[in-house]
Order: sequence, then C-alpha cells, then structure tokens
Amino acid sequence: MRFTVSLSQLRKVVTDVNITDAVQHYAQFIPQAMSLDKFVCFERLREKKVAMILRKLCVIKRRTECHYHYPLAVVRLICYKACPKTSFMFLRKELPVRLANIMSEFNSLPTPLKQVDSVKLVRGWYEETFVDLLEFESLESSQVTDTHLLRFAEQLDIIRNRHSRVVETMAEGIKEFKEQSRYDSFMDSIIQYFLDRFYMNRISIRTLIHQHILLFHPLSSKNKNQNAAIVGGIDQETDVLAIAEDAYDNARFLCEQYYMASPDCQFKSLNILAENQDELITMTYIPTHLYHILFELFKNALRAVVEFHQDSDTIPPIDVMICKGGDDVTIKMSDQGGGIPRDRTELLFNYMYSTAPRPPNPQAASTTPLAGYGYGLPLSRLYAKYMRGSLWLSSVEGYGTDAFVYLKVDPKEASENLPLYNKTSHNKYSQSVPVGDWSDSTVRTCPQDSHINNVNGASLSKRSYCTRANGPPRTTYRS
Ligand SMILES: Nc1ncnc2c1ncn2[C@@H]1O[C@H](COP(=O)(O)OP(=O)(O)OP(=O)(O)O)[C@@H](O)[C@H]1O
Ligand SMILES: [Mg+2]
Repeated sequence: MRFTVSLSQLRKVVTDVNITDAVQHYAQFIPQAMSLDKFVCFERLREKKVAMILRKLCVIKRRTECHYHYPLAVVRLICYKACPKTSFMFLRKELPVRLANIMSEFNSLPTPLKQVDSVKLVRGWYEETFVDLLEFESLESSQVTDTHLLRFAEQLDIIRNRHSRVVETMAEGIKEFKEQSRYDSFMDSIIQYFLDRFYMNRISIRTLIHQHILLFHPLSSKNKNQNAAIVGGIDQETDVLAIAEDAYDNARFLCEQYYMASPDCQFKSLNILAENQDELITMTYIPTHLYHILFELFKNALRAVVEFHQDSDTIPPIDVMICKGGDDVTIKMSDQGGGIPRDRTELLFNYMYSTAPRPPNPQAASTTPLAGYGYGLPLSRLYAKYMRGSLWLSSVEGYGTDAFVYLKVDPKEASENLPLYNKTSHNKYSQSVPVGDWSDSTVRTCPQDSHINNVNGASLSKRSYCTRANGPPRTTYRS
C-alpha cells in the first residue's frame, strides 16, 4: 500500500494538533481579577503603572479543578477608554480564554450533536477566530506599535462579522439534530444547558469586541459620540423610559402589521432615591441590551393581548412601571393577554418553545416576525443576567402576565456573569438520565412538529409545546 499524504493534508493535521493544544492551554487561564478601583484609575495612571497592572492581570495560573474568566463590571468597561494599547493587552489574552472555554464545552457535547453540519460550521468559526487571535499573543508590550493596534482592531471587526450569524446557524443545527436523531428529555436538558452558556459566552465576547471597536477602530472613532456619558456601547445616563418607549413603538409597528390592531401602553416611573420621585430614571447600562430585552417582552405582551381580545370591541392597555430603588432598577410589564397555564411556565425559557406559527426562515423573511422562533424569552433572560440582573414572568391564567426585569443600579455590582468550563460543567454533559423521585415528576418530552396557533393554547389538542426555530428575529438595536 502506498502511503500518500499531501503536504496540505499534513499541514492541516499539524495545525489541528496545535489548535487543540492551544485551546487546552487557554482553557486553563485564570486571569487575575483586578479591583474595580484600579480599573477606575486607569485613565489617571501613568503608562508604567498601567503596564504593571497588566502584568498582574495576565499572570497565568493553572488549576486542575476550575479556571476563571475575567468578569468585567460595567465600571471596568467604561474605564476601557483608557487607551487602545491597554485594551489590546487585555483582549488578546481574555478573548482566547473565553473562546477556549466554550470550545472545550463544545467538545463535551454528545457526538451526534457535534456532527451536525451547522454545529460543525459554528465550531469552525470559533476555531478560525481563535487562531486569528493567537497571532497577537507573543507580542511584547514594548513592541506594540500603532500598526499592530490597527491590525488588531481590523481583525476584531472581521471576527465580529464572521460570528454575526451564530445564533441562527446554531438554531438551525439544533433543528437538524432533532430531525436526524432520537431526541429525549435528557438530550433536551443538555441542549438547554449548553445554549444558555454558549449564548452567554457569545454576548460577553461580542460586548468586549464591540467596546474595543467603538472606541479604538479608526473608522468608528470618526463618528465618536461627543456625549461624555457614552463610553463605547455603554451609556452612563441610560434613559430607561426612553428605551422602553422606543421598544414599544417598534414592537407595536410589527403588531399592527400582523394583526392590524394593537393595545396602547401606559408608562409610569418612580425614582425612589430622588427628592422628586418623578425625576427621570437614568442608570449606567448597555442600551442595546436593555432595548433587546424590552422589545422581546413587548412583542410577547402585544401578541397575547391582541389574540386574547380578538373578539372584543376594546383592547386593554399594557402597563409598564419603572422604578429605581437602592439596588435595582425594576421594570414591570403587565398585560391582560389571558396569562399562561401553570404547567407551561417551566417551558417558557426553553429555546424553541413557542405557541406561534412557525415564521419563515430569517433570510427569506422580508420583515421581522412578531413571534414564533421561541428564542425571545431565553435570550432576553441571558441579556438581563449578563450584568447580574434578572428576568422572570408571573402569570394569572385567564387574566394576564407580569414580566419583571431587574437591573443592577450600581455599576460596580453590574459585573459580567460568565459560564466557566470546569468539572461541574463537563459532568453535566455526561450524567445519566435523571429518574424522577416524586410520584408526579413526569419527564416532559418535546416532540417535533407541534405548533399551537393560539397564544393561550385554546386550540391545543395534545400536550406538545415545542416548535422548531429558524433563529431569532432581527432587531434594530441588536448588538
Ligand atoms: N406575555 C405573555 N402572555 C402569554 N404568553 C406568553 C407571554 N410571553 C410569552 N408567552 C408564551 O411564551 C412563548 C415563548 O415566548 P418567546 O418570546 O420565547 O418565543 P416566541 O414569542 O414564541 O417567539 P420569538 O422568539 O419570535 O419571540 C410564547 O410563544 C407564548 O406562548
Ligand atoms: Mg417572543
């Protein structure tokens, strides 16, 4: 037998081995968490001192049990305006660490899921990005020139574009997997677990990249906002009410297109801490994230209200209450859309759970559909949790639903919430099927091809609530 391996094949094998080693290496990084004060002082520090802090930050420690990312508080992100080199030195380590962590998690997925074409495609993008970033890894701080910084910013822009269709492609992969494989509740729990972590990781990476590009990419600096409160993608005076009104207007536009009707919305705000409680509520936050959350909640509320009152002469309004307290800004959105049966509330945050008709493929769709992908709630909850906030729903069946969004008031407490790849997370993918230990602990399965056309489930004939997703809708502010 002739042994023929082409040079390109050989090169690929060698590269694959190197990437695996590099991923394993970076997956063990423990960046040293800096105190907030140090980051806050970045602007005032002289370069020598910044270099000293960065050296500490980039210290690598190996631990067999677990390894940590560098959770960034909003305050730290703001301080990133310090200088492009500071940001470069941080990101060239932190981005590979975050990528390596989630790539290791990819490796822990069950083999049939990993072999799905769309999942492989997404994995490939991550690998490509990881390799692209390694180019900058060995540069000494003193060697970093403006040309390097420019190339880095341009590379980040390429990476951002490469990953722009990750959510849709991954959703497509899960759909393919469900069509091809035997699909049980255990597999469903693995998918939910993975997607939550995968999308949270993606949100965090995109936030870092976006921040760097907005602040330091030469093209975006031309359009740099003169408002001192806005630092990259963060607004230190985020006007919560204005964003809520904007989200409502856009969701209402979609609702009108679809149903030719829509409820009004009544906004109230209460600034508990201010002398005058009617004072405008502002906070340090990422406006695109807040918009995303509220837009999704409004679409759900509008749809529920219009469907529930389709035979009535009047449509009751949606009520939004925004309140700023000592710890949280709370946004409560109350609708009279008939509520959600209690046995379905546990499914609400499942990816691809939807009671709406399946919308067309996002590429084929001319407008954003009002509902149907089943990604609105789970992704919105991730956006809220990303900066230590929270989102939940509470429903009165037959009447309506209250959605609550909690956002940390103090930017020092608003710190990234990142998935860590360690033994605990690894074991989640290999545990055996849990067996119920209560008489009523029925294991819920998610059969395919089950759509319920009425939001309140009135026309529901069988206990099957899952739908396929083609990906999340496009939104104006999506980052
Ligand atoms: N306010 C609400 N009132 C009644 N049902 C709701 C409400 N919000 C969500 N739901 C139910 O939860 C399901 C999941 O909501 P989710 O936003 O995740 O997906 P979707 O709206 O169906 O699709 P999309 O991803 O396009 O938003 C909805 O299909 C609906 O059945
Ligand atoms: Mg929705």
